[in-house]
Amino acid sequence: MNVPRHIAIIMDGNGRWAAGRKRPRMIGHRAGARAVNICIDFCLERGIQALTLFAFSSENWGRPQEEVSALMKLFLNALEREVVELERRGVRVRFIGERAPFSDAIRQRMAEAEARTAGNDRLHLNVAASYGGRQDIAAAARSLAEDVAAGRLRPEDIDEAAVAARVALADLPPPDLFIRTGGELRVSNFLLWQLAYTELWFTDTLWPEFNAATLQRAIDDYAARERRFGLTAEQLAASAQEPEEQRPA
Ligand code: FPP
Repeated sequence: MNVPRHIAIIMDGNGRWAAGRKRPRMIGHRAGARAVNICIDFCLERGIQALTLFAFSSENWGRPQEEVSALMKLFLNALEREVVELERRGVRVRFIGERAPFSDAIRQRMAEAEARTAGNDRLHLNVAASYGGRQDIAAAARSLAEDVAAGRLRPEDIDEAAVAARVALADLPPPDLFIRTGGELRVSNFLLWQLAYTELWFTDTLWPEFNAATLQRAIDDYAARERRFGLTAEQLAASAQEPEEQRPA
């Protein structure tokens, strides 16, 4: 069966889940943290190589101060509680996005979690925090400009591969499957470059209710799709006969 190597998820609907229970939004985020653990367990069991989660967008800083600080506390506690277990289970944790806006305590925990798990590669768990896809592409453009200014790169050598090498998660296969919970049908500035050929899957399920069965449904739908990467079905059938390194990525 065609299993995704890399799954990227926008975990939406925590606030609405809590509101439906007449509880504060933070209760929804806490319930959302449980759904994160379910997904990690699932990916480890199924041998999925990479899981990238949108935990906090660069726009989320604009939420009420109370919610932002409670979320930061939740991230801090989750990092402290889970990192040993993640390390033991072979998970490599990485954060993508801007570090500067986070407190020293959080930045330190992020760096520790990355350092402790740097030698693992059973599952790459990437947490997008203060991340924006446009910001990611702009940073890649800045890095290219710096290389040109320093004489390390010629403008005519700037191609897709040069950009791809400088955006976040450049060392991983791009996401095969993108999932968004909570009913909105948008990509919301997540991994804009990396999602170019990703299969998109949306569900009305609110994130705290997302579980192994929902994830399995997304994976089953993915397996039934034909990914053509701009080619015809006939070309793809022919390329399946060729050695793997000559097939479309
Ligand atoms: C979106 O729901 C969710 C967030 C902004 C936060 C996501 C955080 C978690 C799932 C907590 C744990 C995560 C980690 C990595 C430890 P929303 O608040 O936008 O929901 P709404 O659209 O219903 O208001």
